[in-house]
Amino acid sequence: MASFAAKLVAWQKQHGRHDLPWQGTRDPYAIWLAEVMLQQTQVATVIPYYLRFLARFPDAAALAAAPLDEVLQLWSGLGYYSRARNLHRAARVIAEEHRGRFPRRFEDIGALPGVGRSTAAAICVFAFGKRQAILDGNVSRVLARYRGVKGYGGHEKVAEALWRESQRLLPQRNIEAYTQGLMDLGATVCARSKPRCPVCPVHGGCIAYQRGWTGKVPAPRPHRKLPHRRTVMLVLVRAGEVLLEKRPPSGIWGGMWCLPEAARRSDIEACCLKRFGAHLLEVEELPKIAHGFTHFKLDIRPLRLRVSALVPEAAEPGVIWLPLEEARSAAIPAPVRRILATL
Ligand code: ADE
Repeated sequence: MASFAAKLVAWQKQHGRHDLPWQGTRDPYAIWLAEVMLQQTQVATVIPYYLRFLARFPDAAALAAAPLDEVLQLWSGLGYYSRARNLHRAARVIAEEHRGRFPRRFEDIGALPGVGRSTAAAICVFAFGKRQAILDGNVSRVLARYRGVKGYGGHEKVAEALWRESQRLLPQRNIEAYTQGLMDLGATVCARSKPRCPVCPVHGGCIAYQRGWTGKVPAPRPHRKLPHRRTVMLVLVRAGEVLLEKRPPSGIWGGMWCLPEAARRSDIEACCLKRFGAHLLEVEELPKIAHGFTHFKLDIRPLRLRVSALVPEAAEPGVIWLPLEEARSAAIPAPVRRILATL
């Protein structure tokens, strides 16, 4: 009887993915970038961002030398921007603490900002061929089903059990094909809903398959109703230009260019004049937008404000007027992009 790993490796060679842009390289920088982009984002979305980013910042030194604004601009639309800020910080750590060379030790890689245990392990496997266990969202589902681990993977005890299984199943050889196979199986066969068990290379040993548990293992995240927050976003326009405002460096959308916000509709006339030195001529409601964050939902009510007669000294620092086309390609988060697209 071939082992779990042997079956998975054979399956990967025949049915797995072989031409993703981060495969076929041993460059730890390029692999790190891919793994960070793939942390919360699907392969198809990541590919164009990855290629653009790597073309602009081909190595850690180039990334470390860049202003954060440019890094955020290339990340714009990919979401979870703390990943981009951490990537930039980590590039500076590599420049300063590792003399510009990407670290090789698992512990040093895991100490870089934004690199957790599974990401560090994936880099070790794909860049250095080291025998390390991974456990990302997809792999966690594969292992929970194969070993019949009940409970929600976000709970510490369950996560510990899954890490033990991940470690136990590791092969002695072919760690790259094995790890890629786990990822590929999770993405293409062992889907969350309607897994394609008949074509799975390891269904013979899969506890969830044998017991008819695939619908309930892994357990979903316990239901938690996310709080709603609301905001009014102001799209100040004059003569083909819109006003963007830079967010403070930390917190939601930290360091990105956004639209100014008002807590209430009734404040906007005074706000336009006081903060931006602009006289309000006309207000138009734009379609509302809902945006989901990890911990809350944001309901955005955008208002298009036609303004005139700027008082130049009144404008605050960190505020910029840009032609609409330029604003659309700045480091803006996805909901702001959607609002600018409606203009
Ligand atoms: N998801 C996380 N890492 C990945 C990789 N290297 N290839 C495909 N999907 C992934």
